[in-house]
Amino acid sequence: MTYPPSLQVPADDERFWAAVRAEFDASEDFINLENGFFGMPSRPVQEAFEAYSRMVNREAACFMRNRFPQRLAQVVETLAGFSGVAPEELVIVRNPTEGMNILIQGYPFRAGDEVVIGNQDYDSVDEALAMMQQRGRFSIVRVALPFHPRDDDEIVDAYECAITPKTRVMVLTHMLHRTGQILPVAKIARMARSRGIDVFVDAAHSFAHLDYRLPELESDFVVAHLHKWLGAPLGVGLLHVRKERIAEIAPLFGDTRYPAGDIRKLAHFGTRPPAAILAIEDAIAFHNRIGGRSKEARLRYLKDYWVSRVKDFERIVMMTPQAPERACAIAAFKVQGMEPARVADYLFEEHRIFTVATGAAGESFVRVTPHLYNTTGQLDRLAKAIGSLLQGVGGAKR
Ligand SMILES: Cc1ncc(COP(=O)(O)O)c(C=O)c1O
Repeated sequence: MTYPPSLQVPADDERFWAAVRAEFDASEDFINLENGFFGMPSRPVQEAFEAYSRMVNREAACFMRNRFPQRLAQVVETLAGFSGVAPEELVIVRNPTEGMNILIQGYPFRAGDEVVIGNQDYDSVDEALAMMQQRGRFSIVRVALPFHPRDDDEIVDAYECAITPKTRVMVLTHMLHRTGQILPVAKIARMARSRGIDVFVDAAHSFAHLDYRLPELESDFVVAHLHKWLGAPLGVGLLHVRKERIAEIAPLFGDTRYPAGDIRKLAHFGTRPPAAILAIEDAIAFHNRIGGRSKEARLRYLKDYWVSRVKDFERIVMMTPQAPERACAIAAFKVQGMEPARVADYLFEEHRIFTVATGAAGESFVRVTPHLYNTTGQLDRLAKAIGSLLQGVGGAKR
């Protein structure tokens, strides 16, 4: 069943989504609702990856020497077209940790600079900043982010209030990994730019999840995963630096080969396994076959499906805002008076539903992340399991 690519597939067209689901080989031993860790590649991507692996190992050095450089350039070009930037502004990295370290360690900070970051951003990004702070390169200024913002202005204002004359860079996460909250990154970046501040965007979770192209983030520096929502095999991410800014970033991995303004100077990684990189094109083809708008709408629909069934239970507290523009597939909840690890263990041990206990900014909760291959029936089972857990401890439906 196919729709013309320009049409949005209705999020509740179960016949269409069943056909999509049939292209994934998810384990039937349990219900996986922890798809925020990495995005299971579809079968076509997995098969392409395996074929590339066999080909690389058959052709060995001959492939690596004679063909990989051109194939890599071709993949970068395809990815650039998909992302809305020029190939000369893109590096394929292993993951956002690598991309963020290239930015954080390569940016020309001056003594006394301050870097602003929220209190719900990703741990390895925090650690890269903390390491550089320990080395005396800059000081970190932390912004407390609300779990349920009133509007965009509340968030933009929170970042604006953290600015001092010493602020040089803001690190922004487009979609917070633990609660799934979407930040108005373009608005914050615009405000920052008007104050002469650069923005590094961590688009790990939003890329190929929300339907947008990188320039819409209005930031000169962006990192993202390709093995989360794009569904490429594990081990690939992207780093985007706007052309005019490349010369300012010093390579993290030693390079004397490329001129200062050539982004390949940031990509001197040594030998890398090519199969996942080659399969990025297949992941883009699969994504485009569904369509970014349809995919985003279906993911939000699946999240709303389970949330609408549990949010009014007594003792349930949602940690993710409800407005459609503030979240998509990822959402988190807590059960008042119960350790999140106990909730996650109960769901897995009693109902074979896999979620994750996590936390942020002094709160702890359970994160639930459906993917395109999850069914509404599985989400009904989640809602029922949460209901039974609450009944077991004396909770009742409101
Ligand atoms: C928002 C965010 N940033 C960065 C990362 C780092 O990803 P990785 O460990 O693959 O580098 C993650 C990982 O889940 C994330 O969710």
